[in-house]
Amino acid sequence: MDDVLTGLLRPKSVAIVGASTTPGKIGHTVVKNLIESGYQGGIYPINPSADEILGLKVYKSVLDIPEPVDAAAITVPAKFVLDVAKECGEKGVKGLIVITSGFSEVGETEMEQELVAIAHQYGMRVLGPNVVGTLSNSDNLNASFAPFLPLDGSASLVSQSGALLIAIDAITYTRRIGFDKLVSIGNMSDVNFADMVGWLDEDENTKCISFYIEGLKEGRRFIDESLKVSKPIVVLKAGVSEHGAAAAASHTGSLAGAQKVYGAAFKQAGVIEATDLSDLFDCTLALSLEPPMKGENLLIITNGGGVGVLATDSAEKYGVPLNFAPESVQAELKKHMPSFGSAKNPVDLTGMAGNDWYHDSTKFAFAHDWVDGLVVLYCETAMTNPMEIAKSIHKAITDTGITHKPVTVSFVGGERSDEAMQWLVENGIPAYNAPDLAVRAMGALREYARLEAMKAEPIQNDHKVDRDTAREIIAKVRKDGRTGMTEIESKKIFNAYGLPTVRTELATNEEEAVSMAEEIGFPVVLKIVSPDILHKSDAGGVKVNIKDEAGVREAYKTILENAKNYKADADIHGLVIQEMAPWATETIIGSVNDPTFGATVMFGLGGIFVEVLKDVTFRVAPISEKEAAAMLDEIRGAPILDGTRGESPRDKKALASVLAKYAFMITDLADEVAESDANPVLVYEEGQGVKVVDARIILKKK
Ligand code: ACO
Repeated sequence: MDDVLTGLLRPKSVAIVGASTTPGKIGHTVVKNLIESGYQGGIYPINPSADEILGLKVYKSVLDIPEPVDAAAITVPAKFVLDVAKECGEKGVKGLIVITSGFSEVGETEMEQELVAIAHQYGMRVLGPNVVGTLSNSDNLNASFAPFLPLDGSASLVSQSGALLIAIDAITYTRRIGFDKLVSIGNMSDVNFADMVGWLDEDENTKCISFYIEGLKEGRRFIDESLKVSKPIVVLKAGVSEHGAAAAASHTGSLAGAQKVYGAAFKQAGVIEATDLSDLFDCTLALSLEPPMKGENLLIITNGGGVGVLATDSAEKYGVPLNFAPESVQAELKKHMPSFGSAKNPVDLTGMAGNDWYHDSTKFAFAHDWVDGLVVLYCETAMTNPMEIAKSIHKAITDTGITHKPVTVSFVGGERSDEAMQWLVENGIPAYNAPDLAVRAMGALREYARLEAMKAEPIQNDHKVDRDTAREIIAKVRKDGRTGMTEIESKKIFNAYGLPTVRTELATNEEEAVSMAEEIGFPVVLKIVSPDILHKSDAGGVKVNIKDEAGVREAYKTILENAKNYKADADIHGLVIQEMAPWATETIIGSVNDPTFGATVMFGLGGIFVEVLKDVTFRVAPISEKEAAAMLDEIRGAPILDGTRGESPRDKKALASVLAKYAFMITDLADEVAESDANPVLVYEEGQGVKVVDARIILKKK
């Protein structure tokens, strides 16, 4: 475990620099909170003009403290912070909790950088600036100006928003969802989410890691660190701005938005994404109390048809669709319900269900090998006591002794149901007040198991590539002062990375065009090659299905004429003569260089699917072939690749392999390539492979 970070987040002693004698001031509140939270470590208030605060001796400077100091909470105005940081460094403080605002969030970026430089010079880490502070139940530590320690629990939450952290602190009591640590991460000048992932993974009191994120720093490192973690991570990402999209030069660039790339990155990192604050709590509760759901079979037990139907709909929505249990399981469950009950899935014990039926059916179902996850629903009835039902469910689960599969519960009713649910949560079973929430929680546990399985997939990084050729082509384009590469240049780079393109040759005069067409074999396609004409069809720069020599000659002349009419001073490199590939299912592969995550690959179905429906999916590159295969399956049009309406299945294996190679290429060339498209990529029948028909690479501006 990182000792310095531990000193910052679980300090054995804390100095409060800027401790104030005036109640209500932040510097006073932090001292008061440390005392009231029962913190057993040293508390050292620092103030040059006070002697005592809340019964504690006040020092003029950290340098006067006779004992070692792990963390310093800084509550002096911004203009004093750098000097204070230097003194803390000299004192040998491990970490600075910089509560003070007025740094990069208001444009004072240089001062913030200087703060980090000073800290690093002394081997210190900085939390913030602009933070509320840090709280830890297991250390009785409230080194913040949040009012109290959160309800105790086994999750830990890190929030980029300080105000939200304070709100969450209070919500933990109303929602009865406990946290061990709450950490305000503020401007993330130094300690960021990537640091917190690894540290919380090693923290013995944290079972589930929850993040409220507005924007990541070091996106790729966040993914890499998260992949190493053995605990569930759930994030709520705020902000829906589609940055960069407007300025994009490629098709892919216009489709990539921050939110989509973040979503992809979280999936890759094995992180579960919550939809809103409530969902963050719900998922955190389930993930901190229950193991992942490792198989597909979810069984739902209910005493009401209505909640059963609602839960069934949700099961489909949250990726845990219901299957019927085997006959033998149904036969046993039938014993715990009246004749008019149903042992199908959901298992409807009916409104007559009492404590025993709940207990016996829950116990049998949870212990049965067929069941991978169990959701128990209850509607409050006049004949039953919710607390007794809760205790029956709890006893049934503990009686099985099983801890490797999950259960979630929903009680729908009034106050008595609320109390029963609270009791369940306090006794280790996640319970929710609506059936869809219990199913959503199970969906998160299933997703966690799926993401865990995907984490183990190795990424191939030893593809055979001709780097020299690729770099030579890029160097030539740079020498020309261009960033847009022509189709033929782009395809040569694709080929250097083993991507299959249709045969394409450059002709600089009509005679060359004819002889190349004859060599390639008719029919052929002729296209203009000019860095000044990126949208070739719009310029009349494309002729397809040319069947003979006369056709080549005519097309050659017409295209040149059209190009000149389109842009009189266009720099024309010639025309490409291209094999006319037999048509097949059109897909698109592309890339962008995301400001947070770097090289990012996109896949979608081509033609109208991409133009109108924007049916595409993203991943941060590089990716494993299995991850590539998952991308093919997650677009809405996925069934088209599997063969619909009598069509034979497409060569998904070859497509996934090309997608993984493409992701490797853009990672390898990430220092140069800004955006790229392979569009269309034709996908033939199984075993027949894929071919890239058109290619475009746009280099970074340097
Ligand atoms: N060493 C020690 N103490 C010092 C020093 C020093 N070098 N310089 C000043 N002090 C003392 C002051 O004398 C004062 O103590 P006193 O009240 O006994 O006289 C104390 O430090 C505080 O200084 P003030 O000048 O009174 O500053 P004030 O308390 O008004 O504000 C603060 C300081 C809170 C750091 C303010 O500048 C600030 O940044 N506020 C925003 C903090 C915040 O909200 N952070 C989280 C953002 S997230 C969210 O929005 C919830």
